[in-house]
Amino acid sequence: EAIEKGGYEHFMLKEIFEQPKSIADCLRGRLDPKTGRLVLGGLRDYMNKFQNAERIIITACGTSWHAGLVAEYLFEEFARVPVEVEYASEFRYRNPVISDKDFIIAISQSGETADTLAAIELAKSKGATIFGVCNVVGSSIPRTTHAGCYTHAGPEIGVASTKAFTAQISVLTMMALKLGYQRGTLPESKYILMLHELADIPAKVEKALQTNEAIKKIAEQYKDARNMLYLGRGYNFPVALEGALKLKEISYIHAEGYPAAEMKHGPIALIDEEMPVIFIATLDSSYEKVVSNIQEVKARKGKVIAVVTEGDKQVKALADHVIEIPPTNEAFTPLLSVIPLQLLSYHIAVMRGCNVDQPRNLAKSVTVE
Ligand code: G6P
Repeated sequence: EAIEKGGYEHFMLKEIFEQPKSIADCLRGRLDPKTGRLVLGGLRDYMNKFQNAERIIITACGTSWHAGLVAEYLFEEFARVPVEVEYASEFRYRNPVISDKDFIIAISQSGETADTLAAIELAKSKGATIFGVCNVVGSSIPRTTHAGCYTHAGPEIGVASTKAFTAQISVLTMMALKLGYQRGTLPESKYILMLHELADIPAKVEKALQTNEAIKKIAEQYKDARNMLYLGRGYNFPVALEGALKLKEISYIHAEGYPAAEMKHGPIALIDEEMPVIFIATLDSSYEKVVSNIQEVKARKGKVIAVVTEGDKQVKALADHVIEIPPTNEAFTPLLSVIPLQLLSYHIAVMRGCNVDQPRNLAKSVTVE
């Protein structure tokens, strides 16, 4: 097992550090910014259906559902298609309105999640086209869907999903760019720029991982917290959800993710000097708004840990701790901003003596409903 962990103390840490490679593996052979080529083999026969879909419905569970939420922003921004993101367990029992004009994307690391499989069967019976985004080759979901795209992240052993999440987002990003370009909602010049930016992501993830030692020090200070709040807006809202999920899964600290602006409708009541609040405050279209949310937390003496873009000054002046990540296009930020949150939950869990790779009560793949 020590050999399999490749010198890392846990599979989860190994998998976090593998992300520059797993994302590159996911993009390899599919993306070529020089020629503007973006090929997703699984889409080829279904491009027509995808392009003409009146609606995209994304269904998944857990971390994969968070990747789906990121995709909602991506598809709507680049391809201007309405998107719904559904928990598979809710979708399947709700008698949802589905037709043959819908394009369903089922996201699953394991490809075996019972609720996701059942949601697929239901949508299939209503005539929709089903596309899978899965990691485990030959698993049940890729065998049930009409077509799909593997994430190629390699085996993920840690129960808390890390590299599968960023690989899912990478695939969904490529799908959104392709769709936007084909539908004419993403102009060619911008499309090419985006392909270049996406190709640079693995190197930027590598840089984001260099925050590890600094994050360890932050973890030391907050390891005994009883609650934590994760806040972000726009593309970083799903990242806030994912950060909170990672923390509760492996450290058993209660954590909530919220869209930063919703804080005033509830979570703000929880803030006192004991409450660490993790903000994702990268330089993007909601930056100024997030800055004022940070001020609101500071005014109530909350402790602020902020993930910011390199060179940030405004948040640095307000926050108790900042973690810098490289700049990128706003739409690709989740691939970078989630990295420090994965590391933070990892270190806190290790310091609390938790079984990081196999947290209590959780399973890697949930094959019962
Ligand atoms: C379990 C795992 C999570 C995962 C979720 C969905 O809860 O512990 O890490 O995100 O199932 O699994 P899937 O394999 O469908 O992505």
